[in-house]
Amino acid sequence: MKIESFFSESIKAALKNDPPGEWMPSLPDDCIRLSSGYPAPHLVPVLQLEEAVVSLLKEEQDLPLHYLGSPKMAKLTEQIKERSVERGMRLSEGELLITSGACQAIDLIARILIDDQTLVAIESPTYMEALEVFQNYTEHFISIPVDEYGLQTEQLEKVLGERKRKGLSLPRFLYTIPTFQNPTGTTMTKERRKHVLELASKYNFLILEDDAYGELYFDEHSMPLKAMDKESRVLYVGSLSKVVAPGMRIGWVAAAPEFINAIAWFKKDLDHPFAQATMASYLDRIDLKDRLNMLRDTYQEKCNVLLSALKQYLPKSVSWYVPNGGYFVWVKIAGVDTSQLLDHALKEGVSYVPGKYFFLDQQEGTEYLRLSFSFADESEIVEGIQKLGKVIERN
Ligand SMILES: Cc1ncc(COP(=O)(O)O)c(C=O)c1O
Repeated sequence: MKIESFFSESIKAALKNDPPGEWMPSLPDDCIRLSSGYPAPHLVPVLQLEEAVVSLLKEEQDLPLHYLGSPKMAKLTEQIKERSVERGMRLSEGELLITSGACQAIDLIARILIDDQTLVAIESPTYMEALEVFQNYTEHFISIPVDEYGLQTEQLEKVLGERKRKGLSLPRFLYTIPTFQNPTGTTMTKERRKHVLELASKYNFLILEDDAYGELYFDEHSMPLKAMDKESRVLYVGSLSKVVAPGMRIGWVAAAPEFINAIAWFKKDLDHPFAQATMASYLDRIDLKDRLNMLRDTYQEKCNVLLSALKQYLPKSVSWYVPNGGYFVWVKIAGVDTSQLLDHALKEGVSYVPGKYFFLDQQEGTEYLRLSFSFADESEIVEGIQKLGKVIERN
């Protein structure tokens, strides 16, 4: 029996791509993990989550463990709406849906928007897991470069104009991470934010805004595209993974009710009532503003340690963007294939993610790599960059 013959056409096409997660190297135990875009282990609020679980079960007994879950789930919606107001987004009834992480939100949006001939615009480079999701549904992409000021909207305009003149299809949506982008750490300027919204209106496409890192600014808060959107063109995706705990799998979509209804149609019971009720109980017990301030200070400090180590230990030919928030620094080593260098780095005891995985055309990423300052502690960051410096010098 040929098992593959039973698969749908979309999974047959998707299986031709690299396997999901191939970009994450398997790491020796004592390796310094500058590849992992995870929160710092000591910043995951284990004790407070334990207290939240205990108090939830004492208070509600079996309720949060049923399909329908607990009233706390509605509370979580309200808590996220309150946070959204802080970020300039006033959401009305029916405009918010909690999902199992931002990843589920992205997948559900892909399901309601993408047919197999649909064209999707992405940033280049972009968050590879989102790209993997889109590739499960379509093979048709245009990728628009990102520079230190975020997505190059002039380039986007040029490509859209050319496609229109030639009678080619236009994208149904643009996937963008405007604030502290993964992998480049860059933030789209206000002018470009306005421009991309104008283009969406002029060329009639939607914007899928991924704001997984937006709360983690060092100095300045950037207004999400959704807060500037007057036409309901933006489907906003948020997450508590980077500010509370990724294993809780709490994300959400904020969009016009028609989108939310369609997304909920597919979501059914595929999320986690218990995790949502626990998160609501946790958020009830803490001051999230205080926590966010603490995270911003801690990650800024870790980022500064990484940036000074880069200056001190890497050769002059290496360059990088300086982020203003988030988890990542994007590094260019001119003339070096970073995926080949990785084996040497792992032997030396430090990991990173080679740049090629963040590009549709992997050739474009050969000379780049992504470093994360979130997971490793400060002394490991310095040691890791010293090791990376040695490996670059030697190869
Ligand atoms: C840009 C971006 N979006 C979404 C996610 C995933 O978020 P979640 O854990 O909520 O699925 C990540 C995690 O690395 C990310 O970098």
